Amino acid sequence: MALFGKKETAIDMTRLPRHIAIIMDGNGRWAKAKGLPRPAGHAAGAETFRTIATYCREVGIKYLTVYAFSTENWKRPLEEVSAIMGLLKKYLMEAIADMEKEKVRFVFFGDLSPLPEELRTLCEETQARSARYGQCQVNICLNYGGRDELVRAAKAFAADCARGKRRPEELSETLFSSYLWSHGVPDPDLVIRPGGEERISNFLLWQSAYAEYYFTDVNWPDFGREDLRKAIAAYQSRGRRFGGI
Ligand code: IPE
Ligand code: IPE
Ligand code: MG
Repeated sequence: MALFGKKETAIDMTRLPRHIAIIMDGNGRWAKAKGLPRPAGHAAGAETFRTIATYCREVGIKYLTVYAFSTENWKRPLEEVSAIMGLLKKYLMEAIADMEKEKVRFVFFGDLSPLPEELRTLCEETQARSARYGQCQVNICLNYGGRDELVRAAKAFAADCARGKRRPEELSETLFSSYLWSHGVPDPDLVIRPGGEERISNFLLWQSAYAEYYFTDVNWPDFGREDLRKAIAAYQSRGRRFGGI
């Protein structure tokens, strides 16, 4: 299919990543470059989420995990945090309403308790309501941090040991994984970071042990279907060895 006169990047539909994770970065710089306030970048980023999540479902990606707000993002000025929370409620929930029609399962990774009451309730209700769907799962990382997730898992396991439900010797990688927000979700095959930074910023530290990374300078609000195809094509060109030969 033609794409502004250029050919679309070809992807092998028989070797798609089962799980794609995205660090949705570059909203602020996108807005700044356009002379707009930062929240306008977050609003545009929410639209991109809608487009990319829909495209992932259409091509048959089983799991999509997006990083929406980190445990460190509370360091931002209050006005920006409030704007993000407001936009999250508005745009995220509109996108979710759309996708609920498509029977998408939504799971939130992160401690929702410090979020504004209304947003938290919406997230909890959406997760509960969509729990019966299974074709495609979208995990939204909200107030998520990889280290926070690991500490919480360690605490929960220790608490189970203290009340006699578990024994320390039982702990294995599989059992430990069951204490993470991501329990039951296969590890990401491909982690994409738009926005030009080449770092992990506390995202899925345990789960991405053997993920393939794809970095691009394209800011998240400009990230489109063709950028996703490029990322998938790059992933498909890699030799994954998992420590073997
Ligand atoms: C990512 O975009 C969205 C959040 C972290 C909430 P940024 O807001 O980090 O955008 P940049 O990195 O400043 O451009
Ligand atoms: C990572 O982006 C978090 C999200 C995209 C939600 P940041 O913009 O917070 O990461 P740093 O500060 O550049 O590492
Ligand atoms: Mg950023």
